[in-house]
Amino acid sequence: MYIDNIFFSNFKNFELKNIKTDKINIIHGKNASGKTNTIEGIYTILNGHSFKSKNTPLQKDITKKTVLSATINNTQNIYVEIYKGKKNLKLNTKRATALSFKKNFPSILYSIDSFISFKDKKYLFSLFDRNIFIDNTKIANMLIEYKKLIRIKKEAIYSINKDLEFIKFIHEKVLNLMRSISTERVKSVEIINSIINKTLNNFTDKQLYIEYKPYDYGQKNILKEELLKKRLITSLNKDKINILLNNKDIFTYASIGEKKIVLLSLILSIVLRYNEKIKPILLIDDLEGDLDEDSKNISFKIIKELPNQLFLTTLGEYLYNDANIIRL
Ligand SMILES: Nc1ncnc2c1ncn2[C@@H]1O[C@H](COP(=O)(O)OP(=O)(O)OP(=O)(O)O)[C@@H](O)[C@H]1O
Ligand SMILES: [Mg+2]
Repeated sequence: MYIDNIFFSNFKNFELKNIKTDKINIIHGKNASGKTNTIEGIYTILNGHSFKSKNTPLQKDITKKTVLSATINNTQNIYVEIYKGKKNLKLNTKRATALSFKKNFPSILYSIDSFISFKDKKYLFSLFDRNIFIDNTKIANMLIEYKKLIRIKKEAIYSINKDLEFIKFIHEKVLNLMRSISTERVKSVEIINSIINKTLNNFTDKQLYIEYKPYDYGQKNILKEELLKKRLITSLNKDKINILLNNKDIFTYASIGEKKIVLLSLILSIVLRYNEKIKPILLIDDLEGDLDEDSKNISFKIIKELPNQLFLTTLGEYLYNDANIIRL
């Protein structure tokens, strides 16, 4: 899958911007020239929303219309419009949802924002859940159902006239869904464990192992406790996950550069899994920071040899003279 003819108007620091693309695209510019904004714009086109928090404004001038658009494989047209606080998504001139964008045009992001989220279990689970979706879309529906039931359960627990039979029924349904999702996550982690060291060992001799253990709700009477405390204590985010490098937890022991290399290897392992089905577009921002010359060169060599289309930001274009350079 290839994205071509990217167009931004009234987006962040760009008044109007046309970008011609190739397979390998290097976004080059000084600090504050718009490199991260360009990655954010492409991400927004492919996902129907930004990777930054909702209150980070995408519009340059909020009184005017913002348009982000692109063609895919020279045939499909994606269009994102933001105007008067409303977002309008179109695929080939027909209204579309963010979910349909994501399904049709997968992309994978590596950025400072991903690095900051790295120690957040929610982010890690989302990576493993994406790995599950590649083989099995059932889990996506299970996660949607789980979120819906959690909302219903909360309302039922907070309500003054509690319907205990109904609460029990929902509670059992939620627990069953959690068990199914966790079982899939166990398999997903096993797959990543079996391939991640192949990428990581380009950088280091150390071995990585991801430990995942679903939280055990079997022992206690959880529902009783939830009713007593009037809040939910069941959550998929309570599952245990540890990332061990030579048997040591990376968030306690690893250096910043090591953590960056582990995250990159994890993301690239998921890319390799995707590539068996559909090749996602790689969006890589600020990879160079905290990496030594060797790690920088190795990471670029690995990424360049992948069949995926790549957008990579850099402060020093000298490394990449055979690529399409987008100068800002
Ligand atoms: N909504 C907005 N409207 C106008 N300008 C914006 C908006 N949001 C951000 N900017 C500006 O865009 C500029 C470029 O930001 P960006 O993060 O893309 O820079 P960068 O090239 O990635 O820099 P660095 O090398 O420091 O990472 C910044 O000066 C920022 O203030
Ligand atoms: Mg930046």
